[in-house]
Amino acid sequence: PREVQIIPSVLPADFGKLGEDCKRLEDAGVDRIQFDVMDGNFVPNLTFGPDVIAYMRNYCNTPFETQLMVEQRCVDYMLPQFVEATKGPNGEPGVVICHVEACTHLHRNLKQIRDLGGSPSVALNPHTPAHMVENVLDLVDHVLVMTVNPGFGGQAYIPTMLPKIRMIRKWIVDRGLDIDIEVDGGIKADNTIFECADAGANCFIAGSGLFAYDDLSKGVQELKSKALE
Ligand code: DX5
Repeated sequence: PREVQIIPSVLPADFGKLGEDCKRLEDAGVDRIQFDVMDGNFVPNLTFGPDVIAYMRNYCNTPFETQLMVEQRCVDYMLPQFVEATKGPNGEPGVVICHVEACTHLHRNLKQIRDLGGSPSVALNPHTPAHMVENVLDLVDHVLVMTVNPGFGGQAYIPTMLPKIRMIRKWIVDRGLDIDIEVDGGIKADNTIFECADAGANCFIAGSGLFAYDDLSKGVQELKSKALE
């Protein structure tokens, strides 16, 4: 079975001390930190750009992951900056996630991320069928199945995504590919993480589900053990 990874989203963090919160997440033993980039067009929210992500590198060495919830032109203009900002402390590839729904030239964008030294990932909003990623599985290291409609933390998990997770995991197994399935939205240390793990997900993005714990390392442990139950 693929390694279970717990990846907090910074959306519920205190943006007035984002660096300190990234350090807290590193000390809690998270596997990666996800930065939710939102442009107020692709989703009804506006967060931060590549400079803020790059600045967080001064506070921790944890691998980063950047989810681009932005329109096509932002992807076209800024992908190199996001790939660079997401890299590790020694230039290791960082995970950069493009949304199927935003990219007219998704195949080109995913290849571009790899060519620029990033680790490509593709995300699907709840309404988008799994088949939309079938022809780019050879280009990615991860597929992100959204279990909420993107834009905000603290929303309710959408259980009807389970068949989509199963279908993608089957394609990965049948084709002998080495790809993580990530789920993102409403994931907590309860049936939500267990159901998604059982369906084939192995990377779990938790925003409010992790930040609800005063002791973040306890939260990481409880999420991990629930996924492995
Ligand atoms: C939603 C973001 C998610 C969200 C997760 O647009 O992409 O990462 O912050 O937050 P929770 O875990 O609270 O649903």
